[in-house]
Amino acid sequence: MLPRCAAPVCHVLLLVLCLSAAEDFDWTKNDRSSSFYYGTFPTGFSWGAGSSAYQTEGAWDKDGKGLSIWDVFSHKKGRVLRNDTGDSSCEGYYKVKDDVSLMNELKLNHYRFSISWPRIIPTGIKSDHINEKGIQYYNELIDHLLENKITPIVTLYHWDLPQVLQEKYGGWQNVSIVNHFNDFASLCFEKFGNRVKYWITFNNPWSVAVEGYETGEHAPGLKMRGTGAYRTAHNIIKAHAKVWHTYDTQWRGRQKGLVGISLSGEWGEPVDINNQKDIEAAERYVQFYLGWFATPIFHGDYPQVMKDYIGRKSTQQGLGSSRLPSFSSQEKSYIKGTCDFLGIGHFTTRYITQKNYPASRGGASFFTDRDLAELVDPRWPDPGSEWLYSVPWGFRRLLNFVKAQYGNPMLYVTENGVSEKMQCTELCDDWRIKYYRDYINEMLKAIKDGVNVRGYTAWSLLDKFEWDEGYSERFGLYYVDFRSKNKPRYPKASVQYYKRIISSNGFPNQREVETWKRRATETCSSSNQLLAAARRKAKENAEMPKVWPVHDEV
Ligand code: NOJ
Repeated sequence: MLPRCAAPVCHVLLLVLCLSAAEDFDWTKNDRSSSFYYGTFPTGFSWGAGSSAYQTEGAWDKDGKGLSIWDVFSHKKGRVLRNDTGDSSCEGYYKVKDDVSLMNELKLNHYRFSISWPRIIPTGIKSDHINEKGIQYYNELIDHLLENKITPIVTLYHWDLPQVLQEKYGGWQNVSIVNHFNDFASLCFEKFGNRVKYWITFNNPWSVAVEGYETGEHAPGLKMRGTGAYRTAHNIIKAHAKVWHTYDTQWRGRQKGLVGISLSGEWGEPVDINNQKDIEAAERYVQFYLGWFATPIFHGDYPQVMKDYIGRKSTQQGLGSSRLPSFSSQEKSYIKGTCDFLGIGHFTTRYITQKNYPASRGGASFFTDRDLAELVDPRWPDPGSEWLYSVPWGFRRLLNFVKAQYGNPMLYVTENGVSEKMQCTELCDDWRIKYYRDYINEMLKAIKDGVNVRGYTAWSLLDKFEWDEGYSERFGLYYVDFRSKNKPRYPKASVQYYKRIISSNGFPNQREVETWKRRATETCSSSNQLLAAARRKAKENAEMPKVWPVHDEV
């Protein structure tokens, strides 16, 4: 098992804070769970699974692909756990047919994947060069999905910025990147838009901004505390809006598709629901997460609470203007309403309490700007990543929050799932079955509450490169044997369980649902045996002498 200290530093600090606070708190008062709801999803509800280019494709330097910031970042020593890289990852680039057959096995309605910008425009600058082999790869993937009646949902930016744009312009810090991104998006609309009808401009821009430019845990690894994340987000929001307008004015008429964005939103629940300060702190937590991007896109400007807090702290720090950039009135109206559907990536929840961080010169940071502390209930299951506690009821609350704040937009859940902690060869993943069962059930309750959720994407189809955690955290429905050259895939028990949810379009009745888990875990023991046998064989082969002693020939 991996040591827990392998987690990103900020998470460790937060959890240390949490755990000390947690000891003297009576968490039993805080139980927000409710009973299981049997019922089905609306007809036409779309079931899917997801992936992203850098996390699964491999072939990092093949067929004319350019370098991305993640190629460069992961090759620097000490940036990724165990110095893992996405160089070959799941070799998804070579396994289109195999992977689509896994989707068929699940009977997925959609598959969410991302296009690697440097694979089709190696420098990121369209006028430099377009890589036909990259276009060909995505053509093949899209065609194969459609032949199998699986709808592609395509993300344009899942974090793999062309390295040249980082070196030349400073990446998302520089507004000039907006036009380059728009050129890349236009090329995708031109080449694939006759077949792709769901476009996601950005995946989880919160992470790009905070982990890429504030804490430096992710590529490009910059630590511009208190300013970097806000500037990055500002340019991402502009780039998103520009691409939406490009589609709207130049492609929508012919292609009739939709353009949205995928935002990550973890839920923040007040520790004490009777304490006004905790209630406001929890609201701030969500506004500094989801609201940071959703409020400009739906209402034209940043959440008032971000403007107030960051503005006040900037003044106290002796700055002449706020560290949070502002939009001109023209920009506000240009950005407002640029979302045909909203993608939600959700994994976990925190309890939130008010905590003041005095504003000091040089001590500015995104995290202290929020004046809050994050806590966790020690009883919450945490089977996987350090930060990921299973708290299903938070999902329903988040979905209802989105409905109330942004006028009940059309929603697709673009990511939801759970990992396992170790280099695990256990395919009987009953904790994942429970996570999916309970989170999907809370989504069903949210739909009954009137939230407009149209589809759900399990994260992820395969185990894959998990950013700064390398291959140590496995989110997949399918296990990938990364030690074997061919990267074979094996179904975990959760494949069988998710498949039942899909074929029943929900949870039809208690009697039936109760048999699913038993049946799913029955099949996984035979997959476990297969995997163990393959492992043994690989080991034996590795131990076999490569050159036979000469006297054997005599
Ligand atoms: C969100 C990211 O978009 C995805 O790439 C990652 O695998 C999951 N979080 C889990 O950490």
